[in-house]
Amino acid sequence: MATTGQNIDTLFLEERRYPPSAEFAAQANAQPSIYEEDFEAFWAREGTERVSWFEPFTKLYEWELPYAKWYLGGKLNVSYNCVDRHVEAGLGTRVAYHWEGEPEGDRREITYADLQKEVVAFANALKELGVKKGTAVAIYMGMIPELPIAMLACTRLGAPHTVVFGGFSADSLSGRVNDMGCEVVITQDEAWRRGTTVALKKIADEAMKDSPGIKKCLVVRRTGNEVPMTEGRDHWYHDVRGSDDPASCPPEPMDAEDLLFLMYTSGTTAKPKGIAHTTGGYLVGVSSTHRYIFDIKPEQDVFWCAADVGWITGHSYIVYGPLCNGATSVLYEGTPDYPGKDRWWSIIERYGVTILYTAPTAIRAHMKWGPEYAQQHDLSSLRLLGSVGEPINPEAWIWYREHIGGDRTPIVDTWWQTETGMILITPLPGVTTTKPGSATKPFPGVDAGVFDERGNEVGPGGGGYLVLKRPWPAMLRGIFGDDARYRETYWSKYDNVYLAGDGARIDQDGDFWLLGRVDDVMNISGHRISTIEVESALVDHPDVAEAAVCSRKDATTGEAIVAYVTLKGSAEPSTAKLAELRDHVAKKIGAIAKPANIVFTPELPKTRSGKIMRRLLRDVAENRPLGDTTTLADAAVVSEIQSRAESESSDDS
Ligand code: WTA
Repeated sequence: MATTGQNIDTLFLEERRYPPSAEFAAQANAQPSIYEEDFEAFWAREGTERVSWFEPFTKLYEWELPYAKWYLGGKLNVSYNCVDRHVEAGLGTRVAYHWEGEPEGDRREITYADLQKEVVAFANALKELGVKKGTAVAIYMGMIPELPIAMLACTRLGAPHTVVFGGFSADSLSGRVNDMGCEVVITQDEAWRRGTTVALKKIADEAMKDSPGIKKCLVVRRTGNEVPMTEGRDHWYHDVRGSDDPASCPPEPMDAEDLLFLMYTSGTTAKPKGIAHTTGGYLVGVSSTHRYIFDIKPEQDVFWCAADVGWITGHSYIVYGPLCNGATSVLYEGTPDYPGKDRWWSIIERYGVTILYTAPTAIRAHMKWGPEYAQQHDLSSLRLLGSVGEPINPEAWIWYREHIGGDRTPIVDTWWQTETGMILITPLPGVTTTKPGSATKPFPGVDAGVFDERGNEVGPGGGGYLVLKRPWPAMLRGIFGDDARYRETYWSKYDNVYLAGDGARIDQDGDFWLLGRVDDVMNISGHRISTIEVESALVDHPDVAEAAVCSRKDATTGEAIVAYVTLKGSAEPSTAKLAELRDHVAKKIGAIAKPANIVFTPELPKTRSGKIMRRLLRDVAENRPLGDTTTLADAAVVSEIQSRAESESSDDS
């Protein structure tokens, strides 16, 4: 298990309790009785109340292990649910997105009526380029309004999408494009990042060289700088933008189980997995959780999920959940500290944000900068805070509540995954007494547990593997094109239950404490990266003979990547080589996967059967006394590495 026993014990000494206030409880969307509702009755009701169907579903769910289907027989369209029906209900003037660009003063207010026009015009452009029901589309963009618009346009036509985070490299993009069989890439000229530009179109061009299946590339203008365009393949969006009359592009009725999107995520091999989400269950799952967990009152709340749309959090809680609920959200293009460290707080003040949802890594960064930046702004509009992405340490939880929440707002620490599609373990504000560091209880209708090695339920206080014991509407429908890997990854350790890959403990009150990953997946700033992915990228460099990667704890990013590298005889360790290797990883995967530290070593510690002992390397990386080394082939290797690690200079750019 990745987390040490000592850590678990510290968490368990956490005795602070935060019951909901009577005022919050009285007005909350979720009342205590929600936990008493029968699982099937709950999801059947949510299925009809949250979503509008062109044809009603005839069966709630079907569970043929390990594949579930939900809302069978139902026909619906996601863009209709997220946009058109709100306009039809007379809510066209409600703001869907307050968009704030990174350059100061760059703002757009997009009402639901505007959004309908934009989505229709975009869908017509895609049609013009040959996109139809079933055409796979890759989206490689920054946080501009055209990103959710492009996603919704795809859903309008019934074209499944995969959004690739704008920080990923050309190799990462083409890998995903090829795996999904995408025919179209939607991108933008460049993205803004901390006052400089990221050349998204150029990176997409690189990727398309390795993706012969791409027929068309649609480019949205953002910065206005010149970018290369390939005649016949590439088209500016403003040149092919179509009619914005909704009648010109009616939403395609889709089956509840039609593929909605793939989201690639790291597993324990070098190849990311295409996690498949379908239409009906996903939309019900994200809108239902959004409504109860964030206590959304669409007529008055301003919701801000400060994630990137390129991750599952952005899909579910910037785009599909909030729009399905007719909510008003903030969409912000930039980083928290540009041009100043108070940027986020100025946004909250400007738009009167009532609910903020972010990650522990961001909270810790703000903690490090100090509370004075938040104090420069009026944050009194906030009434609820959320956290996601990794276990939140109690100090960060308390800081968040005191300095951002005015010691008044409830905090919902929400546990979920790309695979789960929707939040599964979480407090319900107004119902749950929260404890800093605990994600508390399974969402209504969700059956979670903690198992030991042999598959026995672990009692209160014991640690083990987090499992899910029955299906939920937004659950993954498999790994795209890889049934064997799907079964192996999630369903092989135990019979009939889903293995999440996280360690957990349940306390005497039945509250869950998440303890981090139990596999070779690291969590860097809330982003999943596998050790093997980084190792493969390093070994891809011509000078590298062998590499082993592990993570160490880091005060800001949660975990940081440490790489142990053995160079080929012809190459010499040097500071320049170190920088070169880090850049090579960024080029192969993306900047988020750059090792924080690289230690050059003539040999890696291996078992007699030749397996690299990552656990030992982790101990070295964290300066811990070494665990059991009896299986080590050459014990001298470790002390050698230890002395090199001590003299190694780290840089964390
Ligand atoms: C971790 C992000 C503790 C966990 C939505 C999970 C968390 C992985 C929490 C999924 C939380 C997410 N407490 N750990 N509240 N939320 N995690 O797929 O290890 O990017 O397996 O989805 O993040 O990351 P993913």
